[in-house]
Amino acid sequence: MPVISCSAPGKVILCGEHAVVYGKPAIALPVFNLKTKCTILAKPTSNIDDTIIYAPNIGLKSRLTCLVEDNPIRVAVKLVLDHFSLDHLPVCEIRINSSLPAAAGLGSSASTSVALVRALSTFLGYPLDDNHVNRIAFEIEKIHHGTPSGIDNTVITFEKALFFVKGQPAELIEPVVPLTLVIADSGIKGSTSKAVADVRNGWLNDETKFNRLFDQIKDLVILVRESLEIGDISAIGKALNDNHIILKEMGVSCDKLDLLVECALRNGAYGAKLSGGGQGGNMIALVKPEDAQFISSLLQSAGAANTIITQLPARGQRKK
Ligand code: PMV
Repeated sequence: MPVISCSAPGKVILCGEHAVVYGKPAIALPVFNLKTKCTILAKPTSNIDDTIIYAPNIGLKSRLTCLVEDNPIRVAVKLVLDHFSLDHLPVCEIRINSSLPAAAGLGSSASTSVALVRALSTFLGYPLDDNHVNRIAFEIEKIHHGTPSGIDNTVITFEKALFFVKGQPAELIEPVVPLTLVIADSGIKGSTSKAVADVRNGWLNDETKFNRLFDQIKDLVILVRESLEIGDISAIGKALNDNHIILKEMGVSCDKLDLLVECALRNGAYGAKLSGGGQGGNMIALVKPEDAQFISSLLQSAGAANTIITQLPARGQRKK
């Protein structure tokens, strides 16, 4: 019985979230120690109603045909079938397992979409290349987030640090030094679509102010890119701090995220900020590799629900 397995990593946004929705650049990094795996097993029956979706992380076990039409998993299947002009999937069981927490700004929806689209196309015998996977995953992201910039699906598909501008081909960034990040979960579920909508309302109420904040973020993102390319970690840290202050002013931080950011900074992080949609979810701290464990423990003591230490390898290093 054929069995297909494909996976996709998680991601963090290093800088530029929210402003990226308004055409400004952002930088995102893959997180290799978070993973979604999609396994598809063919079933020896021809009744298409027997195709089952099993995703224990989100408590889902259902026939594909019983999912509502705009369920992202059902839409993913439809988009892949449409791409190949097929009208149904051979009967199978689709299992999705993920170590990514949902609603945490770590890309769980995009990671699921990318792993699923890769597995479905491979199962059908026509594995899609990254550009096609990315395009379909972006369509699925629209169901989750309304008006996504496309940064999550892009960084997760290509598994590389990216300088991203909405609607333009993403540019690969190759840092000359490895980056060590501690990712800490505030324990508060953040809704990206709500945070994006709140920023939009803020922008509609005071365009001048928000356009100024978006432009300040753009300057920081460009500075971070240049600093990555010359290995100036202190400059990156300072830019992350400044980015957090602007995100706060935009109304997408919260007390817990601010507390975790302050805790990381008090204990020697180069810089720290919320990452992703905000209003909960995760923060990131850029740290010296030898401090990562210590800062991670302190963030837990300060109330982080979970912490992850991750490294982005430098140019020419193997990913971990
Ligand atoms: O999915 P999240 O929570 O990492 O947020 C994505 C980043 C935003 O800029 C807030 C939204 C977007 O579509 O780019």
